[in-house]
Amino acid sequence: MADITDLIMEDHAWFREQFARLDLLRGDAASDAEALHTVWRPLADRLDLHAAAEEEIFYPQLLRVGEEDPAAETLDAIGDHNDIRDGVRDADAAPIGGDAWWDGVTRTRLANDEHMAEEEREGLADFRRTAAAGLRESLGRRFTTYFEQHPHAETVRRDLDPETYVDTVENALDRTTEDPSLGIGSLRAVGGFRDTDSLESAGNTKGPGPQ
Ligand SMILES: [Fe+2]
Ligand SMILES: [Fe+2]
Repeated sequence: MADITDLIMEDHAWFREQFARLDLLRGDAASDAEALHTVWRPLADRLDLHAAAEEEIFYPQLLRVGEEDPAAETLDAIGDHNDIRDGVRDADAAPIGGDAWWDGVTRTRLANDEHMAEEEREGLADFRRTAAAGLRESLGRRFTTYFEQHPHAETVRRDLDPETYVDTVENALDRTTEDPSLGIGSLRAVGGFRDTDSLESAGNTKGPGPQ
């Protein structure tokens, strides 16, 4: 079974490849809006789904077992995810192929490149050192299933307030510690905030925007 840190890295590699494909299209005078859309739409949707899947499945567990100041790592990551979502939203608000669209794509790429490097160096590295192989693999299964259960990025495309997110997860972890019978189900409930909107009422700031 796949380790969640490997699956996240596979998505990161795919993101880099898709931005490189956009470079080629930009340099090809024959490319049109349809060609750009064919690369951009799956890329933009997967960026949003990837961030949401990490927020639901990976970061709650990093907060639980991480040892390199996981709260700071998570605050940074959620802020970065918001920047990536902002870039996607800006590009999608502009006519495809125009200057404003390319500006949005470039902002998305810059935010994502910076974030992936930090996530790989910090959160993922911390998690590989501290999480048991069985946990990394069970989370890998959940990560894969997430994309089957969420085929449409529109359902997850919303910003989160980083501090509210960390507080909500840490409070749920505390409850689990006080009452072990809550077990992993409680953490799943934390992960389900996107569906139950509990975080939205507590601090989400913006509304909406494949595998
Ligand atoms: Fe990531
Ligand atoms: Fe991330």
